[in-house]
Amino acid sequence: MLCTARILPSRLPLRPCVSGARRRISGASSGLPEHIEILGGRYPTDAITNVTPAILNKLSLRLHTQPAHPLSTLRALIEAHYPDFAHLSSLSPLVTPYKNFDELSFPKDHPGRAVTDSYYVNKDLMLRTHTSAHEVEVFRKGETKWLLTADVYRRDEIDGSHYPVFHQVEGARVFSADAAGMKECQESNADLAQKLATENIVIEDVPHISPTNPVQPTHDPRHSELVAKNLKLSLNTLMLKLFGGVAGSSAQNPLKVRWIEAYFPFTSPSFEVEVFFQGKWLEILGCGVVRQATLDTAGVSNKIGWAFGLGLERIAMILYGIPDIRLFWSMDPRFLSQFEQGKITTFRPYSKYPSCFKDVSFWSPKDKPLHENDFCDLVRDVAGDIVEDVQKASNIPRINYRSMDRSLSNEEVNGIQAQVVSRLKDQMGVEIR
Ligand code: DAH
Repeated sequence: MLCTARILPSRLPLRPCVSGARRRISGASSGLPEHIEILGGRYPTDAITNVTPAILNKLSLRLHTQPAHPLSTLRALIEAHYPDFAHLSSLSPLVTPYKNFDELSFPKDHPGRAVTDSYYVNKDLMLRTHTSAHEVEVFRKGETKWLLTADVYRRDEIDGSHYPVFHQVEGARVFSADAAGMKECQESNADLAQKLATENIVIEDVPHISPTNPVQPTHDPRHSELVAKNLKLSLNTLMLKLFGGVAGSSAQNPLKVRWIEAYFPFTSPSFEVEVFFQGKWLEILGCGVVRQATLDTAGVSNKIGWAFGLGLERIAMILYGIPDIRLFWSMDPRFLSQFEQGKITTFRPYSKYPSCFKDVSFWSPKDKPLHENDFCDLVRDVAGDIVEDVQKASNIPRINYRSMDRSLSNEEVNGIQAQVVSRLKDQMGVEIR
């Protein structure tokens, strides 16, 4: 029997985000072990441990290396665009907060550091929130042109385009900060500009450097200009490679790419790149001229260069027509067997099963308001990928259960919902209404 919604009487909504609110999903009260095993290592837990079993189970999957998986094909496509770059894809997701944030000049009070936003094993170890976390390490190894693909982790809401694990590609190129390096940069610029000149692409640009997007004090502005230009040319050709086939397929319908000034703690000037697709501008990546402090820490002060970071799921959803981000994690042969390594094909939906909505109405303790991300992690930990989204429109969180692979029975959903409610009471100290 298919499930029908049972609406709980309404009282207190899920509190809005309170940055820095601290909560343990698997807190001591619920028997958090003193140590946890992760990828063969054993790590002590502490007061800020907030990794959940549901998240830790994802660490070994490494979808970007699974043959024929859309994320793996997309990675390979990007790597093929940069044939003379080093291609890295096996760095551990466990990093220190120092590496994830401090080495990249993130201020001490940056919201990304909050336990509500990031996953911590303990105060000294976390799951990387972005591939930029490895910049210093890779530059230190002496790599001057490299791509790094990896799984990254962020605590977030639940809907069709957010998942707490996703994949990024980081790319970087550095030049010697001298006449020889700048000659190399100029030659690369001439080469790339020539390739782009004959292509069906319209680029909306912003100045390489401006008062609001400044050159770094230690940089020669002429060097910074050349490097920013190299970054833009390099990424414009990548956008053409990725989207030229879908968005720029005719003379009347050129690929449209636009550059926007941005801010990142570890680059200046900084930019975002958007691509016009199906009537909308879509944000594709962030990038910029690498902060000299990063290169100094890596022991390569004599270099100047650029870096970018892009999210693979967003691009794969567009290119393959994949409607829900959970599908990337599906083990269903009806999903996996559709794809071949190296080929981008349009996803054929195999079925849409019914939704089952359940409201959760509760009072949150006044002194310890429940953070939305804590609520979502708890729900994911209990229900896994059968949660499609958590809606908040009515002020009472409404969990939408829908499997991508099968129909859910009323009994099953009621059982899961009962576990959600019981863990909310036991671990979060909320009062169910
Ligand atoms: N790490 C950034 C993020 O996850 C993306 C990014 C921006 C990467 C600028 C870069 C960069 O290398 O230069 O949002």
